[in-house]
Amino acid sequence: MNPLAKQLNQIIEQGNPHIVEMLSEMGEKFFFPKGILDQSAEAKEKAYKLNATIGVALEAGQIMYLNSTRDALGTMSPEESLTYAPSFGIQTLRKAWRDLMLKKNPTLKTRTFSMPVVTSGITHAISTFADLWVDPEDVVVFPDMIWGNYDLIFSIRKCAVIHKYPMFTEDCRFNLAAFARTLEDLAKVNTKLIVFLNFPNNPTGYTLSESEGEAVVEILTRLARQGTNIIAVFDDAYFGLFYEADTLKESLFSRICQQHPRLMGVKLDGASKEIFAWGLRIGFITYGCTVEGDPSEVYQALEKKTAGCIRSSISNASHMGQSIVLRSIESREFDDEIRRKFTILKSRAEYVKQVSRDPKYQDKWDVYPFNSGYFMCLRLKTVHAETLRQHLLDHYGVGLISMGDKDLRIAFSCLEKDQIPILFEIIFKGIQDLASSARPC
Ligand SMILES: Cc1ncc(COP(=O)(O)O)c(C=O)c1O
Repeated sequence: MNPLAKQLNQIIEQGNPHIVEMLSEMGEKFFFPKGILDQSAEAKEKAYKLNATIGVALEAGQIMYLNSTRDALGTMSPEESLTYAPSFGIQTLRKAWRDLMLKKNPTLKTRTFSMPVVTSGITHAISTFADLWVDPEDVVVFPDMIWGNYDLIFSIRKCAVIHKYPMFTEDCRFNLAAFARTLEDLAKVNTKLIVFLNFPNNPTGYTLSESEGEAVVEILTRLARQGTNIIAVFDDAYFGLFYEADTLKESLFSRICQQHPRLMGVKLDGASKEIFAWGLRIGFITYGCTVEGDPSEVYQALEKKTAGCIRSSISNASHMGQSIVLRSIESREFDDEIRRKFTILKSRAEYVKQVSRDPKYQDKWDVYPFNSGYFMCLRLKTVHAETLRQHLLDHYGVGLISMGDKDLRIAFSCLEKDQIPILFEIIFKGIQDLASSARPC
């Protein structure tokens, strides 16, 4: 093993030996290389005469660029967009995102957690997490309603074993009993469990209530106390879009951070959904765990392993994307802008709730609980979801997502308010068409 990786493992082990046990085989071996990066950093400080270290091109002391590229940059300078960003992400953005996390999650003020490391979107944060913490045959636990890409990342890329629990009870509440039972059974035969929690959830749009959140923390802590190493991973892609009073408004990551030495929290989030900048591809990975002594060294070791992993895959995330997100967060308008977009989405969610639950639709579908995010789901009672999806597309020009036999996902985030009743009427009509095999008019 590379001596730098050994050194990082020792630092982590001294702070908390269970964290080293949780690393994947690849994760154990990762380190942040010195080599070119270190030498360039040293040259940046000391090479006042000539600096020929980095693989970029300079002209008249500035970064070289094409005018055609420069013209497209708008107010962004070539230095803050065309040069490489560090593998960790640009420091000012990492600090700004950390400050945002503190603002949105007051409990974090009483906890310790790492600096966020920048990834190329949240998908890349998830797959980087998987590289560092998931070995083949490791057990990853999900609810039965999830974002499909998890399967690709954990089953196909990592050969992990996926276990699912039913997300909702018959009376449409988060199925805490199934969550606890599944984890308890798995903990009997596994020393390490990776538990994925995604609220607001894709596809259902559900976020836990305060009391459900407390119960989840309590279940995870109990298992850790009983001797299972637990990595609680929070995919907070839609964080902040909470529309109802009794919904948990903080990420559960905040409450997990220093719960127990065998329980580590990992927060995966980003600009994509949270600040409506999907194509910029800016995501983050942040760690929170219990550490003996000063936690900063352990967090820096985890950040270095993560940046090493990023260095080996994409090298670094888009500098342009990072600079735009930073400018947006630092803008005086930022809070107001976010509030305005939130209000639009909230009013759509409220209207969808009202329209979708119209008693006239009662014998056609049930509405899964939703209170947050971009999506909601219908559970169809009389027709096959994929048949209906195709019928709506072919005969009404309406595109929705079918999942399994009965579920239909609606991204209300994409609907103007006046389109909402039209959509549900069309779905209703489509179901009637299929029942009578009549052609739509
Ligand atoms: C739950 C969840 N996590 C992560 C992502 C991916 O986000 P990104 O576009 O930043 O890769 C999505 C995108 O749909 C998602 O729904």
